[in-house]
Amino acid sequence: MKSERFLRACKRQQVDCTPVWLMRQAGRYMEEYMEIRRKYDFLTMCKTPEIAAEVTLQPINKLGVDAAILFADILLPLEGMGIDLEFAKNEGPVIHNPIRSAADVDKLRVIEAEEDVPYVLEAIRILRRELNGRVPLIGFSGAPFTLASYMIEGGGSRNYVECKRLMWQAPDVWNRLMEKLTDVVIEYLRGQIRAGAQAVQVFDSWVGALGPSDYKRYVLPPSRRIMDSLKNEGVPVIHFANNASGMLELVREAGGDVIGVDWRVDLDTAWERIGHDFAIQGNLDPITLFAPPQVIEERVKDILQKAGNRPGHIFNLGHGLHKETPVDHVIALVEAVHKYSHRPSATGAAS
Ligand code: CP3
Repeated sequence: MKSERFLRACKRQQVDCTPVWLMRQAGRYMEEYMEIRRKYDFLTMCKTPEIAAEVTLQPINKLGVDAAILFADILLPLEGMGIDLEFAKNEGPVIHNPIRSAADVDKLRVIEAEEDVPYVLEAIRILRRELNGRVPLIGFSGAPFTLASYMIEGGGSRNYVECKRLMWQAPDVWNRLMEKLTDVVIEYLRGQIRAGAQAVQVFDSWVGALGPSDYKRYVLPPSRRIMDSLKNEGVPVIHFANNASGMLELVREAGGDVIGVDWRVDLDTAWERIGHDFAIQGNLDPITLFAPPQVIEERVKDILQKAGNRPGHIFNLGHGLHKETPVDHVIALVEAVHKYSHRPSATGAAS
C-alpha cells in the first residue's frame, strides 16, 4: 500500500512497488511554489508553519511521491546558536558572522528545539494532521561537517579553504565546533521526532570535499555519535553523504538505517560495498530530468535492475532537483518507478 511503502522499505521489508521521493521535491521548479514565493521571502516561508506545511504538500498532490519531506532548511537551527543568517537574492545562504576562532566557537549556544525552532515543530504537527496517514513525513537536518562548512566559510564554497584550514590548523577548535553541532543536530532531530516526524534524513551535502582519511579522522566520530543517539528513537534514519562514493564504507561505519548515494557510483556496486544489511536510497542523476522521457524511463529501469528486487531500495535522485526541471518529466519519473517496479505478489499473495 502507498502509505506504507516508504517506511517498509526503510526497514528492508517487502513492498508492492519501490517507493520514491525526491530531494528538494518542493521548490522553484513548481509554479504553485513560485506563486507563494513571489509574496514571501524564503525564510518567512520556513518560519510560517501554515506556509511551510502548504508547500510541503504541493509535491504530494502533484507528483504522487511516497513520502513528504518537511519544507525547511538545514541552516535554520544555526540562528539559535547565534549565527546571523540571510538568504540573499541569487546568492544562496550568507552568514554575516563566520566562525574562525576558539572564541567564536565558545560563544555558540546549543539550541533547544521547542524554544529555538518552534515553527519547525508546529509545521510538523500541522502536516501530520493534514497528511492523515496518506504518506509518511520525513524530517531532516544538516550533518555537522556540512553545517560547519557554511559557518566557517560564511556561505557556500568551492574549495572549502577556510574550513579545511581551521580543521588542520586548530583541530581542538574544530573538534569543539563539531561537538556543539553534534549536540544541536541530535536535539533538533529529537525535537522533530517528538513533534511527529516518521523518519529523518541527515544531509552531509558537502562532505565530498574531503578525502577518506580526513573523513575518518574529523567527521566520522561526530556523525557516528548522531546515528548512535538516534537509534532508540523508533524512526528510521537516512544518512546521505553527497559525492562520497570514494568512502561509502566509512559512511556506513558512521551509521544510519538507510544510506543515501549520489549518481557517481552504480547502485549495485554501492549496495555491495555498503552491505545488503543496510537499506539504500538513490541514485538518479538529477540532470537526467532534462532528458527526453524515454531516456528517463531507461535510466529508471537501469537503477531498478541494479537494485535487483531486493527489499530495502528507496528510489530518489542522487542529489536535489534543479530549479528549471520540467514538472511533467518529474511526474513521468515517479510513474515510471512505480510501473517498472510493480510486484503484485509482494504483499502476501502467491506468485
Ligand atoms: O527537499 C525538500 O523539498 C525540502 C526542502 C529543503 C530545502 N532545503 C528547501 C530550500 C531541504 C531538504 C533543504 C536542505 C538544504 N539546504 C541542503 C541539503 C540538501 C542539499 O541540497 O544538499 C542545503 C545544502 C541547504 C542550504 C541551502 N538552502 C542552499 C545552498 C540554498 C540555495 C540554493 C538555491 O538553489 O538557491 C538554499 C535555499 C533553499 N532551500 C531553497 C529551497 C526550496 C530555495 C529558496 C528559494 O529561493 O525559494
